[in-house]
Amino acid sequence: MHKAENFHEIETKTEMGNATESAWQNPCSKGTKYGINNKNNKIYNEMGKIILTGDRPTGRLHLGHYVGSLRRRVELQNDGDFDKMFVFIADVQALTDNADNPEKVRQNIIEVALDYLSAGLDPEKVTLFVQSMIPELAELTVYFMNLVTVSRLQRNPTVKTEIQMRNFETSIPVGFFTYPISQAADITAFKATTVPAGEDQEPMLEQTREIVKRFNYIYGDVLVEPKIMLPTNQVCCRLPGTDGKAKMSKSLGNCIYLSDSSKEMQQKVKGMYTDPGHLRVEDPGKVEGNTVFTYLDAFSTEDDFAEFWPEYKNLDELKDHYQRGGLGDMKCKKFLIKVLDKRLEPIRQRRHEFEQDIPEVYNILKKGSEAAREVAAKTLDEVREAMKINYFNDAALIQQQAEMYRNK
Ligand code: TRP
Repeated sequence: MHKAENFHEIETKTEMGNATESAWQNPCSKGTKYGINNKNNKIYNEMGKIILTGDRPTGRLHLGHYVGSLRRRVELQNDGDFDKMFVFIADVQALTDNADNPEKVRQNIIEVALDYLSAGLDPEKVTLFVQSMIPELAELTVYFMNLVTVSRLQRNPTVKTEIQMRNFETSIPVGFFTYPISQAADITAFKATTVPAGEDQEPMLEQTREIVKRFNYIYGDVLVEPKIMLPTNQVCCRLPGTDGKAKMSKSLGNCIYLSDSSKEMQQKVKGMYTDPGHLRVEDPGKVEGNTVFTYLDAFSTEDDFAEFWPEYKNLDELKDHYQRGGLGDMKCKKFLIKVLDKRLEPIRQRRHEFEQDIPEVYNILKKGSEAAREVAAKTLDEVREAMKINYFNDAALIQQQAEMYRNK
């Protein structure tokens, strides 16, 4: 684990850019800031704040992931304002719509792990694990299936859109249809109070809370109702693709990946969509919908101006000039390249180091999975006990039945 030492050098706070200061809200007010409404909730008081989140391993992570979630996770990890933090690779969920392409999922586990580690997640502080290595999650999913109706799943907005996106309408795999239940198991097996995720995940959290309520109502208080922790800054919610399209997506080829070389990144920035009406340098330009400025919003700081472009004090001054006219796109792009290089170079370097020791990366995932499994197994013991399906440990049951038959 010698690599882990490097993590402590990662300066997340100064790396954040001006967008993140206000980028994340804690969705819960003071006093209930750990995500559970009911302060009298016994489980909450015992367990404190537990953070859990994850990604499907279907591709390398890009700058959208970085500003939307990764950067925040590293910040959370270093704040230490939690009792436990789990970040996992959701391979089981990835298989729900990639059943015929397991190789894609298999190859992307290492990509996501490398992206996590290079972005600064520290296995000493965060438990990194692989979903399929925790069979307890599958078991809990099966018990939860009895608590959810088909029509409730059909109403889940995220599932609805995803079914359309994948043209699954006529033949929805059952596993895909029920993945919100499996996601509820992921969250509750670790008694997570706080799930940092995008707003598209809110319906999943809603459904998870319903399952928890129903479980606790029927079997007794075992599980914890989780809350989502949303990014507040719009830019951070959704960084557009380099072509100005609303979302970065692999199929559109408009992503800048964390693992891109400086050269690849530079080419992508040079080809970035700006203001199509800004034809000559003298023309006034628009900054709204101008991808270069959206990226500068997400990444640049006053320090960057002092270091690379002291003619301007901050982004507002630069925007003013661009809007007045007399400022060329290429100058702005060159500045963005410097800003991104500064941000990404330490990430690239760490990635390069970890790439030299792939077995060690798998070892980190293995150790994390073992630790995570212990936690999930403990919850499952409690779940089985609450459901009274722990027959072999239920001495009272055995004795009562023994007496009943003896006295027959
Ligand atoms: N649904 C998430 C995604 O698409 C991945 C995921 C699976 C997840 N289980 C989770 C996220 C539990 C947060 C909590 O990226």
